[in-house]
Amino acid sequence: MAPNLESLPETIAAPRTDAIYNCHAYLTKVPVAAIRPFIETFTAPSDTVVDFFAGSGMTGLAALSAGRRAVLSDISVLGQHIATGYLAEVSPMALRDAADAAMKKARAALGELYKTKRASDDAVAELTRTVWSFTYICPACTKEMVYYEHISLSDTPPKACPSCSGPFARRTWKRGEDVPVEVVVTGEDGKLTPQPVCDFDRRMIAAAAKDRRQKDVPSLAITDDREMYSRSGLAKAGMTETARFFSPRNAIALLELWKAVNSTADENVRRKLRFAFTAILPRASRRYQWSAQRPLNAQNQTYYIAPVYYEWNVFELFDRKVDAALRADAELFGSRWRPLFSHAGAKDVSYELASADRLSHLGDASVDYAFTDPPFGSNIFYSDMSLFHEAWLGRTTDCTSEAVIHTTGKRKIGTELRYEKLLRGAFAEAFRVLKPGRYMSVVFSNSSGRIWGLVQRALRDAGFKAAPAHVAILDKGQRSVKGLNSGSEGVVTVDLILTVQKPTQSEMAANARPAVNGDTLALIREVIADLSVEKARNPSYVYAHVLTKAIQKHLLLDDLHLGDVLVALRKAGYSIDRKSGCLAIP
Ligand SMILES: C[S@@+](CC[C@H](N)C(=O)[O-])C[C@H]1O[C@@H](n2cnc3c(N)ncnc32)[C@H](O)[C@@H]1O
Repeated sequence: MAPNLESLPETIAAPRTDAIYNCHAYLTKVPVAAIRPFIETFTAPSDTVVDFFAGSGMTGLAALSAGRRAVLSDISVLGQHIATGYLAEVSPMALRDAADAAMKKARAALGELYKTKRASDDAVAELTRTVWSFTYICPACTKEMVYYEHISLSDTPPKACPSCSGPFARRTWKRGEDVPVEVVVTGEDGKLTPQPVCDFDRRMIAAAAKDRRQKDVPSLAITDDREMYSRSGLAKAGMTETARFFSPRNAIALLELWKAVNSTADENVRRKLRFAFTAILPRASRRYQWSAQRPLNAQNQTYYIAPVYYEWNVFELFDRKVDAALRADAELFGSRWRPLFSHAGAKDVSYELASADRLSHLGDASVDYAFTDPPFGSNIFYSDMSLFHEAWLGRTTDCTSEAVIHTTGKRKIGTELRYEKLLRGAFAEAFRVLKPGRYMSVVFSNSSGRIWGLVQRALRDAGFKAAPAHVAILDKGQRSVKGLNSGSEGVVTVDLILTVQKPTQSEMAANARPAVNGDTLALIREVIADLSVEKARNPSYVYAHVLTKAIQKHLLLDDLHLGDVLVALRKAGYSIDRKSGCLAIP
């Protein structure tokens, strides 16, 4: 039966705010709500959906929620861990009881380390968090400056050395030891209360640093052949081991909690608790950024540590994460979707560790639909960032076949060719495993026409019909407007979802219309002239429309860069509002 393409919107707005999406972070997740309409359009209940760049498994969850089976695969050990964690169906009561028992055990094993003296009544209390600050050494007077003490209320960095007034520069000043600058406890009135760091705190911090359990904290080296080693400046900061990202106290609290979680008897409950544990790791680390207004979260694409950061009580984070997992479970397994479970359940979603160009676990013409979201080139280094979590899982991703474009180090040589080869191999495998006449939807985003051209050719050469069956814009909400004026890579805030069809046997021969070169500038002008207020949200939206039009006209995408669109927009009199990143209509 032909799919009802009319039911698929042209723009899929899927903000990253739902309970499932936010329960466990993974780089560049696609929200379940964005995937589900595609699965419903291109498959029937009980059909099998595949995703061979599955990451955290959102396609599997979308398939499950729509009563379809799914076979997921990825090279990522962390991705598999997250997806199977989401899919572990547990009794809410059993999970809550097991979480409480694990925290009780871990708290007892941690001893006094999280204790502080409450300033108001001298009572011994468990702290909620400690705020830490970098210190810098002035190159002129060699005096130490505690960064936190000299930032303004709006977090503006200090301008000068407080001792000699020499100019302050974060990049060139040497770092001293980080110091605790504030402790937050629950006050006598039950409210969170900040108080100064006291001697008791310093004793606990020193005891944790000397604790013999430090050597048992799981850790992986982030070596200099990793792209993120240089991008995050890890060597300069002495952060080349994942365990170094945790304060000594949090490292031991995590170690004890991990041991307790792993001794949970029920397999599914244990899996869900392990999932909640890895979900808290960024916030349990020094990557959790402080700000005067409200916590700023951890940047999940880099190993950045802000000059003022939190040491947040691990048990409090875990307690809240277990509640978040219960909310996500209610969304996923709740009564809303129950009736569909006669077709497929969590056990009908599998996850293999396999490279997308070698799907040996799938037979020829065996699946009904593919929805997939490959890496977008050189923006994100999944396996490098996953080391942080995988240290605890005891297994790491084999990154030899990772589909990314390296920009530094030895792996830079021939990297674009390797990326292209992998993508071609993946699309060829998708073509092989799909039944004739069936569809594949590919989520993609890039600001370079060359990379778009590469995807376009790889799809066509794999055998898919040259004209896509559907092109949609996926808008996951505004991320960052930084750099929108410069047209640099990494600022595209919308993705395209291209749906292509595997021809039926009789159509195979007729699929011959090649893509041709077009007048790039004329195309950009055409789209700009056609801009309605609704479509003109920001330059990357316009870029997505230019790409869509080009694909529909069978034009080669190689010369269509975001930068050219920005120049054309400026020439046509548009400006970009710096705050919102949106176009101001001339
Ligand atoms: C854009 S992410 C997918 C995220 C996913 N849509 C989600 O919701 O979590 C791309 C994924 O491709 C994976 N990947 C990179 N190279 C791969 C390869 N050769 N084979 C399979 N997966 C690969 C990465 O590990 C990453 O999980």
